[in-house]
Amino acid sequence: MSDRLFIFDTTLRDGEQVPGCQLNTIEKIQVAKQLEALGVDVIEAGFPVSSPGDFNSVIEISKAVTWPTICALTRAIQNDIDVAVEALRFAKHKRIHTGIGTSDAHIRYKFNATQDEIIERAVAAVKYARRFVDEVEFYAEDAGRTDNAYLARVVEAVIKAGARIINIPDTTGYCLPQEYGDKIKYLMENVNGIDKAIISTHCHNDLGMATANTMAGVINGARQVEVTINGIGERAGNTSLEEVAMIVKCHKGLNIETNLNTKQIYPISRLVSSLMNMPVQPNKAIVGRNAFAHSSGIHQDGVLKNTNTYEIIDPHDVGIDDNAIVLTARSGRAALKNRLKMLGVELNQEKLDLIYEEFLKLADKKKDINDDDILLLAGADRTLNHRIKLEYLQVTSGVGVQSVASLGLNISGEHFEACASGNGPIDAAIKALKKIIDRHMELKEFTIQAISKGSDDMGKVHMQVEYNGHIYYGFGANTDIIAASVEAYIDCINKFKL
Ligand code: KIV
Ligand code: ZN
Repeated sequence: MSDRLFIFDTTLRDGEQVPGCQLNTIEKIQVAKQLEALGVDVIEAGFPVSSPGDFNSVIEISKAVTWPTICALTRAIQNDIDVAVEALRFAKHKRIHTGIGTSDAHIRYKFNATQDEIIERAVAAVKYARRFVDEVEFYAEDAGRTDNAYLARVVEAVIKAGARIINIPDTTGYCLPQEYGDKIKYLMENVNGIDKAIISTHCHNDLGMATANTMAGVINGARQVEVTINGIGERAGNTSLEEVAMIVKCHKGLNIETNLNTKQIYPISRLVSSLMNMPVQPNKAIVGRNAFAHSSGIHQDGVLKNTNTYEIIDPHDVGIDDNAIVLTARSGRAALKNRLKMLGVELNQEKLDLIYEEFLKLADKKKDINDDDILLLAGADRTLNHRIKLEYLQVTSGVGVQSVASLGLNISGEHFEACASGNGPIDAAIKALKKIIDRHMELKEFTIQAISKGSDDMGKVHMQVEYNGHIYYGFGANTDIIAASVEAYIDCINKFKL
């Protein structure tokens, strides 16, 4: 019989720590519902004490989903636990995830404590959390760089105190797969009472080994994996849910099963990428645009004869539907609504009407409308309440002439216009913008990307603008990349703390 592997998704907590990719509560609920449809066991919904936004998201996600356990993160501090308990009050199944750093570096520099004091604090936190919930998960932060013998002492103590799940994070993404696997094996063999708990992996990808380390943990006895959609997360990210899911599906010899409906992988990957404005690298395993695209003649020939020659995964198994209807200007509201539903976005009639209007405008400019376009349109109302909006933009540019831009802004209902020349059309447009909004702001980073292919494609622009010592992240999407760039700049300005 196969062993069950529990999937703990932390897209909405660790994943959401990517700078500039924060979601609002409504967006988090959308992702949580799709995670439920995907079949994850646990959704880590936030770190309630960290902000009112996180607190509120845990409450709303708890109300919105039924089956998955809702987990809230805390430090090993009573007040954190009290706030988490409060935030989890509507969850049908709840878990508190508490913990403390256990590596020498954390003990010495973060806590200025001794090893024994850390064990005392860990035990006290677990006991305190157990007063309120049955399921307490303990994390030993920086376990990847913690001495195994000491880690075993910590784990034994917290299991005795009532922790049911033990998370062994490789917080800095430092471990080698063999080393991480050996760590899990060591705990399985040396901790009294380990049979009363489930060991969980939590691997970061700083050296590109998160998935390999996670699998080494599973092979050595871990039965929960902490993962994110598209592998998103701070720095180089976390272990990707889709990679682990397909590894255990492909390698039957592992004798591991999950509750995942893998056909939901692609839709949720697109949804998360779109809501977070975070492109998926084209060669990303499982969900990248090129993950199933064979370009060499030898491969194409083989795949045409029999897909088994070069494909280890059937793209349909991860929800890539090559027969997906491409929407065009002739598609009706029902087709749009249906496609959005498939992508995890459910809308009321009023919002559907609004998006349909935008859809028709886009379809005028662009022949085929794909999933990314639709998701972008669905998120377009994010700018609805913005104080500053672009009203029009006109640019003249070319070879041997100076670029000139004139633009109109609507700022809190008032109209402003300006015109400027510059070193290229984007420079000219931004200079015109700065004539209206005269602040000391500096463009720090700027990327332009086409979403899929075709010269009529939507361009996506990500920007970072520094203002008053802070970096602000902005995003714009338009078939006109100069307009997308100005929209991204305005998006940054709308976020300024004044
Ligand atoms: O990476 C880490 O150590 C974490 C813990 C807070 C679980 O995210
Ligand atoms: Zn982490």
